[in-house]
Amino acid sequence: MSRRLLAALSSAVLAFGLAACSGEGAGGGTDTAGQDPKDLTIGVSMPTQTSERWIADGNSVKQKLEAKGYKVALQYAGDDIPTQSQQVDQMITQGADVLIIAAIDGTALTSQLQAAADKKIPVIAYDRLIRGSKNVDFYVSFDNFKVGVAQASALLVALGLQNKDGSKGAKTGPFNVELFAGSLDDNNAHFFFNGAMQTLKPFIDNGSLVVKSKQTAIEQVAILRWQQETAQKRMEDLLTSTYNDGSKVSGVLSPYDGLSRGIITALQNAGYGTAANPIPMVTGQDAEIASVKLINDGVQSSTIFKDTRLLAEQAVIAAEAFLQKKQPQANDTKTYENGVKVVPSYLLPVQTVYKDDIKAVLIDSGYYTAAEVAAGQAK
Ligand code: BGC
Repeated sequence: MSRRLLAALSSAVLAFGLAACSGEGAGGGTDTAGQDPKDLTIGVSMPTQTSERWIADGNSVKQKLEAKGYKVALQYAGDDIPTQSQQVDQMITQGADVLIIAAIDGTALTSQLQAAADKKIPVIAYDRLIRGSKNVDFYVSFDNFKVGVAQASALLVALGLQNKDGSKGAKTGPFNVELFAGSLDDNNAHFFFNGAMQTLKPFIDNGSLVVKSKQTAIEQVAILRWQQETAQKRMEDLLTSTYNDGSKVSGVLSPYDGLSRGIITALQNAGYGTAANPIPMVTGQDAEIASVKLINDGVQSSTIFKDTRLLAEQAVIAAEAFLQKKQPQANDTKTYENGVKVVPSYLLPVQTVYKDDIKAVLIDSGYYTAAEVAAGQAK
């Protein structure tokens, strides 16, 4: 037999072997441990492209996996639950070997996850915990409770009720504040709000903070799908319903930069943002470039920076561990109970960014350039 024929035959056998074990997308069920990365596909399902952070996450995960030679199927679901379910279904049937999923609705993917488990495809929940399923193998995120604590602390610091080191601030209030939370179907929204409320409660109890609308329950202040327009509308409604007596709002707890921008627009449209009528202290999250510019310009008061490059790196480390049939290393095995089990997690720390921190935290780390911050737009 000629060497060429032999080579052709053996690659045909190899191809047949692969097809036989990956079958109709047997994915992670195959012995991925010994395989060349180029024969392995990682399905990456992201919620939406309307927020920069998820674009940065998707790009980072894809680049890091591709740099290691893996094939990547990256999909964005346009914040539509059926679209995400369908995209994950497709990744499974097309033979994904590992799935990395940032869910839109944390409870909506149970049947997809069962299908993945049936094919022994490991599932990594990315930033948002997937709830109600035993088939979530690992969770990579940030310390979400601490995000809420950091947001509330930033509000207290901005109002002067507390110093950055946690000591008592120079001001005593009372200050009128309003509260916002994220989407109720996102597990993180509850962690953020609980962390924030635990921090704000003593100040509400002693009267230095007054939630004038009296809307303090998460169900009253949540914004479905984290929509900027919905937050703007709620802030407009609050201003007309609660602040039409000449009283002023001094601070707004906002859990995400997109919401913060909606809230700020509502406030500006109502005349806030002048020397006589200063813009309230508004918090945020994600260090989105448009908001970093607003912070730099003194319009938004703070944000919480979550380095998506580090999160992507953890997701890649976890995916590789699963491909090598190992268990990824967790640093939290208690906190993230998803209704069925506690999901082993790797949680990253977060950083508060006020105007003074932009250079050290965001520019010097290479996350943004000074020009991007000045323009309010990332390249
Ligand atoms: C993420 C936040 C983000 C929010 C809205 C949450 O699950 O943890 O970083 O601001 O979703 O996209």
